[in-house]
Amino acid sequence: MNTLTITRPDDWHLHLRDGEQLRAVLPYTAKQFARAIVMPNLRPPVVTVDMALAYRDRILAALPEDRKSGFEPLMTLYLTDNTPPSEIVRAKESGAIHGVKLYPAGATTNSDAGVTDLAKCYATLEIMEKMDMPLLVHGEVTDPGIDVFDREKVFIDRILAPLVQRFPGLRIVFEHVTTRDAVQFVRQAPHQIAATITAHHLLLNRNAIFQGGIRPHHYCLPVLKREVHRQALLEAATGGESKFFLGTDSAPHSQAAKESSCGCAGMFTAHAAIELYATAFEQADALDKLEAFASFHGADFYRLPRNRDTIALNKENWIVPQQYEFAAENLIPLYANTVLSWRMA
Ligand code: DOR
Ligand code: ZN
Repeated sequence: MNTLTITRPDDWHLHLRDGEQLRAVLPYTAKQFARAIVMPNLRPPVVTVDMALAYRDRILAALPEDRKSGFEPLMTLYLTDNTPPSEIVRAKESGAIHGVKLYPAGATTNSDAGVTDLAKCYATLEIMEKMDMPLLVHGEVTDPGIDVFDREKVFIDRILAPLVQRFPGLRIVFEHVTTRDAVQFVRQAPHQIAATITAHHLLLNRNAIFQGGIRPHHYCLPVLKREVHRQALLEAATGGESKFFLGTDSAPHSQAAKESSCGCAGMFTAHAAIELYATAFEQADALDKLEAFASFHGADFYRLPRNRDTIALNKENWIVPQQYEFAAENLIPLYANTVLSWRMA
């Protein structure tokens, strides 16, 4: 197969940042995808509808001319201990906000304002359930006593499973799942529970963090896991199951912020997002399953129409640049200076 044509995909989990950084990274996503669920972990976080709508305007203004009408940012609200139920009503009425993001406080980048105790959010979650506003979950506990590689599994047991029980009508996206445990949980859960999977968790296991030395550009959260988990993710992504769909979690940080004594979590993958997924699907001999995963399952879950136009991927070697410009800094992409064998036409 030399050309693969698929319905234009959507990215159901993306970090676009703001200002000059937004302008630097947005074109890569807008070129490939029709829509993206935009994460709200800015500084300060996007906690109100007004903030989300203003952020949406900044994203639209930053779009390249040729994608002005071709790309739609799908906004999210950042859940805090104090998000009032009335804000959910306003979010639903706005038509522009498609999910509310749960960051356990301290779990990841800019999550300090996140939720300290989910019980504080019950009234808000109840309205979300009633109004059919999806909850998007960063599924890791923050308990320092729990090993960093076990934080997703413990989150399922302590937080997610009880949450699903308590709010049986709430639609939940378990974001960027990284373990076999998460895959199994989502599979056996009711139909309103789904999950996104990143390209980097499909392509890399935790050895990549320590290959010949410490590799800060392979550090993200949730952290890469063992090979058995990667295999479980691949099986879920390529199995044609409608509960699993594409979410890059492309999370740009400057080279200086990554290559530091305390480097930031996040991999930048937007430069070659669909090509990276194609690479993983090809390795699993499942290129025929890419379109449903990338372009159908997410839209169906979010109850949005599937896209109508298509993109084409050519079987063609190209070398990922060593770096991209990122405001006045550098951005090191995943697979920098490495040959990829799929390229968007
Ligand atoms: O690796 C990550 N980076 N994981 C997250 O959850 C947040 C993200 C970021 O915003 O940099
Ligand atoms: Zn993320």
